[in-house]
Amino acid sequence: MASLGKNTLLVVRSLNDKGHRILRHTLQGKWAVTIEATGKGERGYATGCDPFGHQRFKSTCGSLNHTSIRNKYVKASTEPMEQTAGNNLIRNNAKNDLLHWTEKTLTVSWADGQQDSYNATWLRYNCHCPLCKQEHSGQRLLDIWSLPPAFSLQSARIQGEDVCLEWEGNDHKGRIPLSFLQEYNYAVKTAKDVTDQRISSALKGDIKEVDYFDIMDNRDAQWQYLKNLNEDGICLVKNVPTVDKTVKKVAEVIAPIQGTIYGETFDVVTTDKPINAAYSTVGLQYHMDLVYYESPPGLQFLHCLRNDPCVKGGESIFLDIFHIAEEMRQLYPEKFEVLCRVPATFQKIHYERERPVHMVYQRPHIILNHNDQITGVHWSPQFEGPLMAQPGDVEPYYDAYNTLTRLMTQSHAQKMMKLQPGDCIVFNNRRVLHGRQPFEDNGGVRHLQGTYVNIDEFLSQYIVLCNITGNPDIAKRVGNQCFS
Ligand SMILES: [Fe+2]
Ligand SMILES: [Zn+2]
Repeated sequence: MASLGKNTLLVVRSLNDKGHRILRHTLQGKWAVTIEATGKGERGYATGCDPFGHQRFKSTCGSLNHTSIRNKYVKASTEPMEQTAGNNLIRNNAKNDLLHWTEKTLTVSWADGQQDSYNATWLRYNCHCPLCKQEHSGQRLLDIWSLPPAFSLQSARIQGEDVCLEWEGNDHKGRIPLSFLQEYNYAVKTAKDVTDQRISSALKGDIKEVDYFDIMDNRDAQWQYLKNLNEDGICLVKNVPTVDKTVKKVAEVIAPIQGTIYGETFDVVTTDKPINAAYSTVGLQYHMDLVYYESPPGLQFLHCLRNDPCVKGGESIFLDIFHIAEEMRQLYPEKFEVLCRVPATFQKIHYERERPVHMVYQRPHIILNHNDQITGVHWSPQFEGPLMAQPGDVEPYYDAYNTLTRLMTQSHAQKMMKLQPGDCIVFNNRRVLHGRQPFEDNGGVRHLQGTYVNIDEFLSQYIVLCNITGNPDIAKRVGNQCFS
């Protein structure tokens, strides 16, 4: 090939494995165009590759000797690489980002040296042109019903802050902002070590505190309040006025109240005929509230309105169940597997109340994602219904269940505190178990008032506050079963 002159075409004729004719044109031994017939009247397609084997273009053509294809190939191969239309290496002059594309993959080499790749079909589904994405709502308009199952790229180039794209066989010119590609570099962001950053560390030391009056009107204090909840799953709000329903204000700083079968707010105070064991003096073992809902409440707020000095006992207890579950996986992997697989029954069936309730929900105690990371734990012994499992699973289930309870009661991470009037303890009900010691009222009153906020709305507000206060952070896994 070295003996060939400049711009000399070398044409090789051969057959592919289906017996269809192939013409391979090579220029100077460097550039190659392959024109391949489909066997139907010699219509076929042509692909052009650069000296590195990277595809520069792919087109359908009318015949194996299609002149325009050959001309395109010759033109592409004789022009400087960075100025060629349909080129696979395009420089963003402003930032020095580079594009490099093949039929199936667009690769961006960012100015900082990082390189990210995007699948051609993924790019089509994420097109930002006005036909595919509505400008103000950001909602997708793309007509997914009419799309083929896969796409190949036909061209890619940088224009301003966007990458302009064309896909083969689909008459569509799209565009995607470079900033979007940089933010959603899915090959990197789906890596397990990145999602591992969403795991919280076990709460060590004291429960952090914020002041009620600070969080009412100061955005930075609100951010600190939510940061504590993101990191530790628990935070104590001090100096909350002991006025009926003030707990709503502590909650509404974060999100609207999540109403439940107990109403907008509920009063944990001793009554004669309690509709819930909490409304008596008995001790309450570790649990989550309302696990018989598909989406149990996220944050729980318990505001202490009264706790008379004569009341003995009644301390609140807390424990991060995610860390207990991880401990179980390390120490007893087989038992851990049973609790990830066998569905427990959670229920609230109670007709003797103003509005009768009949709720039954079955799911395993521990939920894993595709990377075997824990995304949810469900624990509420007081509201468990009969186990409905395969006969062979019954004994292993109770054995694993018993082991988990033992790990909880032996844990050094348990927190105990006696709430004082004006305290409002806030915790993630999907991650931090709560309970209380039994108490004797001795003629006094222990009165907590509670409410809830949805977990996804908490998470949203935390991310919003991080962004608008300029404190970027990775939101921890909150127990809402999100896979990331
Ligand atoms: Fe509770
Ligand atoms: Zn589009």
